[in-house]
Amino acid sequence: MQVSKIKELREIYLSRLKTTSSLEELEKLRVQLLGRKGELTLLLKELPSLPLEERKKVGKEANLFKEEFLSLLDKRREELKRIPRTPFDPTLPPFPLNIGKLHPLTRTLEEILEIFLHLGFQVFTGPEIETDYYNFTALNFPPDHPARDVQDSFKLKNDFLLRTQTSPVQIRVMEKFPPPIRMVSPGRCFRRDTPDATHLPMFHQIEGLAVDRNITFSDLKGVLEEFCRAFFGEEVKMRFVPSFFPFTEPSAEVSISCIICGGDGCRTCGFTGWLEILGAGMVHPQVFRNVGYDPEKFSGFAFGMGVERIAMLRYRIEDIRIFYENDLRFLSQI
Ligand code: PHE
Repeated sequence: MQVSKIKELREIYLSRLKTTSSLEELEKLRVQLLGRKGELTLLLKELPSLPLEERKKVGKEANLFKEEFLSLLDKRREELKRIPRTPFDPTLPPFPLNIGKLHPLTRTLEEILEIFLHLGFQVFTGPEIETDYYNFTALNFPPDHPARDVQDSFKLKNDFLLRTQTSPVQIRVMEKFPPPIRMVSPGRCFRRDTPDATHLPMFHQIEGLAVDRNITFSDLKGVLEEFCRAFFGEEVKMRFVPSFFPFTEPSAEVSISCIICGGDGCRTCGFTGWLEILGAGMVHPQVFRNVGYDPEKFSGFAFGMGVERIAMLRYRIEDIRIFYENDLRFLSQI
């Protein structure tokens, strides 16, 4: 009777061993059979009360079973270690692929550059940490000129500052290369502005510069008009309004007809029908002298646009801060 009881246990435990699916389960099974209160342990405790002959038989059977069980347990343990925890089910539908995409500002920036590349411009970049000389003085901002005030800057030690505009790249490129020049320069700029719906202390600009013999204001108009049409569409109209920048003369602010209301007047355009998109002008002779170009021989135009502002107009975004919140509900829409 005792021998058959062991055979019964053997059958049950060996088949359960085969179906264990984790190391934890395996250990539980071992304890159930061989632990202090395990089924086999309890059975063996009864051995001394059996008649000698039976005790021998049962004892032998029990030891054989125990050895067999332990060696199969070891085997199963090795197997389980090799089997992945979740069995692979090739019939399950795949996880959705969450492929990232470019940030709307990156896309806007690349699209703008692409247009200028087609017009024969070349891309240059300059440092974000600038000297006072490149950011202001060489661009014809005298030390106490009020034009510096509208670009309140983050000053660093030793006359360094975070550039407030991409215009210093004009100087760096002209110092390095003789005319002719057709360059665009994208990059980050920094101003001590309090964040609100249209301002951030860090933003992007794209600078443009063309220098050659006989470059005129109509070249500037032609290039910018081509850009506006390519970027905003054929119907868009452009307007130049006189303005002031120390490094261009004459200077202009360029606006496009409001892409929301088509020029009738709405909240976005402040009921003027126009949206300002960039500053521009003919390079000031003093800037040419500062880089060793002869203003009698060469002329040129320059422009600078805010990438955030243009992306806001393009995608009808009302608050600039949303670009930098990393909110996927926004980022995945564009
Ligand atoms: N750098 C000027 C600004 O940030 C923009 C500009 C660039 C104007 C080039 C004229 C020519 O306001």
